[in-house]
Order: sequence, then C-alpha cells, then structure tokens
Amino acid sequence: MMSLPGRPRSTFMDYFSYKNGSLYTEGVSLSALAGRHGTPAYVYSRAAIESRWRAYAQAFSGRDALVCYSVKANGNLAVLNLLAGLGSGFDIVSGGELERVLAAGGEPDKVVFSGVGKRVDEIGRALEVGIKCFNVESEPELLRLNEIAGRMPVTAPVSIRVNPDIDPDTHPYIATGLRENKFGVDYEQALGIYQLADSLDNIEVTGIDCHIGSQITSVEPFIDAVNKLLALLGDLEKTGITIRHIDIGGGLGISYADGTAPDIAGFARAVSGLVPERYGIILEPGRSIVGDAGLLLTRVEYLKANMEKHFAVVDASMNDLLRPSLYRAWHDIIPVAERSDGTETEYDIVGPVCETGDFLGLQRRLSLCPDDLLAVLSAGAYGFSMSSNYNSRPRSVELLVDGEDAHVIRERETVEQLMAGERIPGD
Ligand code: LLP
Repeated sequence: MMSLPGRPRSTFMDYFSYKNGSLYTEGVSLSALAGRHGTPAYVYSRAAIESRWRAYAQAFSGRDALVCYSVKANGNLAVLNLLAGLGSGFDIVSGGELERVLAAGGEPDKVVFSGVGKRVDEIGRALEVGIKCFNVESEPELLRLNEIAGRMPVTAPVSIRVNPDIDPDTHPYIATGLRENKFGVDYEQALGIYQLADSLDNIEVTGIDCHIGSQITSVEPFIDAVNKLLALLGDLEKTGITIRHIDIGGGLGISYADGTAPDIAGFARAVSGLVPERYGIILEPGRSIVGDAGLLLTRVEYLKANMEKHFAVVDASMNDLLRPSLYRAWHDIIPVAERSDGTETEYDIVGPVCETGDFLGLQRRLSLCPDDLLAVLSAGAYGFSMSSNYNSRPRSVELLVDGEDAHVIRERETVEQLMAGERIPGD
C-alpha cells in the first residue's frame, strides 16, 4: 500500500492509503463503500482508533492511570463499545452521553462527568449508576450535588475543576482554561471551594481536575497546568484535605495540515514525570483518539465557475462537518480516485446549504469532474458529533471499517425521521 502523496507520513495514515490509484480505508475501497451506502458518509478505521487508544494506555503504563475517552468527540455506540472493550473510561458532559456509555457497555465506575450546567436529573442518574467522579465546575453545582446525594442517600465523589488561567494557544472558541472562560472555578477561589466540599456530608473529595482547551499542539501548556495544580495540591494538603487523583483533561492536538502533532509518549513522559506516584492520573482525550481515524466521503454534484472563482459543489456540507465554517478549521481534501491526466484548478469546495459560510475547504488545487468522490480527512472527531439537520438535511451514514469488512454503525437518517416528532396543532 502507498501512503498518501503530499501528506506527511504518519503511522495513522497507514490506515488510509491508495491501492492502484484508489483510496482505501484498511482493506476496503472507498468508492465501493460510496456505491453501496451512498454519500455523504463518515468512514472510520477500527484499527486506527484502537491503536491511538493503546498508545495512551502504553504511554502511561506503570502508572495508576485511567484514560477516559471524551465522548463528545465521537459518541457512536460502536466507537464507545470498541473503546470500552479495550478497558477505556469515559469523560461525559451530559445525561445523554452517560446513557450512550452505558448502552455501549462502558463501566460506570470509569466515568467522569464534566460540564458547567449539570441538571438535577443528570446528577441523579449519575449518582444512581455510581460514576467515578463529578468534575464540579462551581459552588452552586457543589451544593446541588450534595443535596441530591443527601436525598438518595449516597456520597458523591468529587474533583473541583480548577481553571489554571493558561493560554493553550488554540482557537479562541476551544480555549477553556483562561480566566475569562466559563469553565471551572478560579484558581484563587479553588481552595475555599475545596474546604466547603470537605465540610459537606454527602461529598467526598477524591481528585483535582482541569481541562485547558482542545487542539493543543505543544506539551508546554499541559506542563504549566499540571504545575499549577500541584502547587494548589500542596496548599490543599496543608489544610488536611487529601486527594487520590489528578485529572489533566484532554486537548492533545492532531495534525490537520503540517504533519506535526505532539507525540503521546512524549506528553505522557512529561506528565508522569511531574505527578508524584502517589496520585492516580486521569486523562480525557477525545480528538487525539478518533480524529485521524475517520474521514468524510462526499461526491461532487456540480462544478461551477463565476467571474471570480471555481466552485466544486459537493453533497456534504456544514451540517455534516461544521468545523471549517465554525472555526475556519482546515481539513485536507483528497480525491478517492487519483487522476494523473487532468489539470488542476483552484476550487472552493462548498456544500448545498444556503450560507456563504458553508464550505469544507477553500482554494484547494484539485483535478475534478462531476461525480468524483472526495475524502475530507481527519474528520473522525467533532465531525458527526457536531452535525445537524440544518436545511432539513438528514444526517449521514456512519461506517466502521475493520480489515476487509465495513459495518454500518449508524444508518443514514431519513426525512421521515426528521419530521417524526413534529405536530400541526389540531391535527
Ligand atoms: N474534557 C473536557 C472537559 C472537554 O471539554 C473536552 C473538549 C475534552 C476533554 C476533550 O478534548 P480533546 O481531547 O478532544 O481536545 N468542537 C471543537 C472541540 C471542542 C472541544 C471541547 N471540549 C472542535 O471541533 O475543534
């Protein structure tokens, strides 16, 4: 198998490669998949997901570490089931994600629950099934949790999510650990909140938590964050409060464009070197496990040109993959069938949705004909999970390739399903 021309070589791209000029995911031809299941289609490689999860597990072996895959990156039941089978824990941010984890066979006592807006019913359910830890993000949440736990009555295991005020140097929408962000509690207020937590009857302080952002491409911000947490821990322990684990969140980036993604092993060495052995380590990676393991397959509907530009209008759009529109994120877009003859033209690759911001990629040099298939790479994380039905577009099919087999892990939505819950008054 040849790896992708023009793409930096990485182990990951070994799962997506050209054979005789045609793009494959593992042993399955993408053009065959498009013929069988239609487009747009999300296609994931099982081996790729598995190898990334194992890279984390191996990098932290020898430590008491729990990898809690962040469900929001890709919550398909088959993906969760695959990871649960490897022994993964899960980071959730809603009752819906909790139910997905349970339905997929995840163990509740490996679940950590983050998020600034946990509802009463969500907290109740998480207490009922016995999750590992609530990553508490405010004083009112702590009081609510104590009250609900008191009624059941159970004891709620708690980490306080501390905002370490670290600039992760990423897109402003996905930086979460700055002072002005809504997440966590201020570093300066954390000690007081811990003391409050310690005084509450139905709360047990078990850890300390932070998450500083996403798509972070260097290890330094993590080191700074861990150092700040450790300093706070020192102060905590002076007050007699002890904790068992440090949760350093997720956020390790992947290479969308230039081939340089931080290496998991180096990240693990740096973190393990800082955190004393007596503490367990929890990690919440999402993107770095599934991002490179998936692509979005789409077909060219029309090629059109105006006085200014050439457009390739494809059948996937911002409702399928929002990242380019929302963050101006760059995803590589490559042809499924290599064409050696045609001349390249610079295209904006756009979808059918009625928004100027609906594009998958701008100014891409490609040799295209109508009906050609394109693959939008590194779409396994925050791709399907952020998709919507805008313009009444049913959401795409999801396929999991495993060697020579491809499994439908989510059927393409139908228009009937989109309208199923709607009612006309009086009818
Ligand atoms: N833990 C917490 C508390 C989080 O908020 C997140 C992501 C993660 C873990 C996982 O972070 P990761 O390892 O995937 O970077 N939609 C954006 C990304 C938003 C991330 C939100 N939080 C995107 O498409 O880039």
